[in-house]
Amino acid sequence: MKAYEIGDTRNGLALRMVERPMPVPGPGEVLYRIRATGLNARDMTLLLGLGREPGPETRVPLMDNAGEVAGVGPGVTRVKVGDRVAMTHYWQWLDGAWDVKMREQDFAGTRDGFLAEYLIVPEAPLVHLPDEMSFESASTLQSAGLTAWNAVIESGRARPSDVIVTLGTGGVSVFGLQWAKLIGARVIITSSSDAKLERMTALGADNTINYRATPRWSDAVLALTGGRGADIVLNTVGMGEMEQCLLACASGGRVMYIGANPVAPDRKMPTPTALANFPNLIIKDLTIKGVTVGSRRMFEDMLKAMAVNKIEPVIDRVFDFADAQAAVAYMQSGEKLGKVVIRID
Ligand SMILES: NC(=O)c1ccc[n+]([C@@H]2O[C@H](COP(=O)([O-])OP(=O)(O)OC[C@H]3O[C@@H](n4cnc5c(N)ncnc54)[C@H](OP(=O)(O)O)[C@@H]3O)[C@@H](O)[C@H]2O)c1
Repeated sequence: MKAYEIGDTRNGLALRMVERPMPVPGPGEVLYRIRATGLNARDMTLLLGLGREPGPETRVPLMDNAGEVAGVGPGVTRVKVGDRVAMTHYWQWLDGAWDVKMREQDFAGTRDGFLAEYLIVPEAPLVHLPDEMSFESASTLQSAGLTAWNAVIESGRARPSDVIVTLGTGGVSVFGLQWAKLIGARVIITSSSDAKLERMTALGADNTINYRATPRWSDAVLALTGGRGADIVLNTVGMGEMEQCLLACASGGRVMYIGANPVAPDRKMPTPTALANFPNLIIKDLTIKGVTVGSRRMFEDMLKAMAVNKIEPVIDRVFDFADAQAAVAYMQSGEKLGKVVIRID
């Protein structure tokens, strides 16, 4: 079977296709035939060897996935051969509270990911896909879709009367817009591109702000809300934007902290900006909440909501398995809006 390995990242992107023996599922395991995967910002740092010591890496990249059950090991009861499924990459988080120890078992983070024809996975995290959902659509959801779902619906506890601000038109932010509109909230979205903002208006955004033309975008949020501010801000960018996220908040506002600042070209994580100008968190009763993707239960809830409300992810381009390098280059170009998918036929 064919798979991609990250390769030697000392000179940057080194993604390479390799042949591997067909794996065999053991007790409680499933042979997963992957039919689509997708790219996320975090995948890019792993693929480019940023934020860690660069060097040879045989791990298979990419955390998003959708496909079919191709075989089952002894004792598997959750799924059967032929089922259409997908799974979260922090696979041990099934329900309840997050535990940081779950990061140690991370598909694509600490073990092989899904840019391969087949992979052995445990049965526990597998979730059945709605009949009408394509593999391409389902392969956009595990990271960006679920993180935005957690931020808006679970941790954010958004209500129809809320004003929700979401930053940029990347995967997480566009899903944030879709989940916020699902519950009837008012959405303000930012972008560096007016053309992308037009697309967001067509998708239901109530107001748009170009953050290049208006670097103090928090002032624009206040102006758009009669000086009140936002109830929820999805910080999909990082600590560098935290001050403005807080300044954009109404009293009692919540900032969902999702994005880690992009790794600098010197492969170092950037130093967060000074916190001197933060608004008074106490007087304004503000909350900053970290968000870590989501559990299997949240994933199931999200799939149900998508099926009932006929919500489709915003997919910018679909690449063939043989063109994975081109998909990565397209992600790097900054042109894309929403998600980039790789189909595995
Ligand atoms: N906490 C978690 O569990 C979790 C899960 C998933 C992702 N993340 C993190 O969330 C972040 C976003 O991920 P993603 O997959 O959505 O990334 P992505 O699809 O690559 O989106 C990147 C987008 O961010 C926007 N952007 C960049 N700088 C910005 C700025 N200063 N202000 C506003 N927007 C800006 C750009 O939008 P425009 O092109 O419109 O300008 C860009 O297209 C990443 O840091 C990722 O690591 C965290």
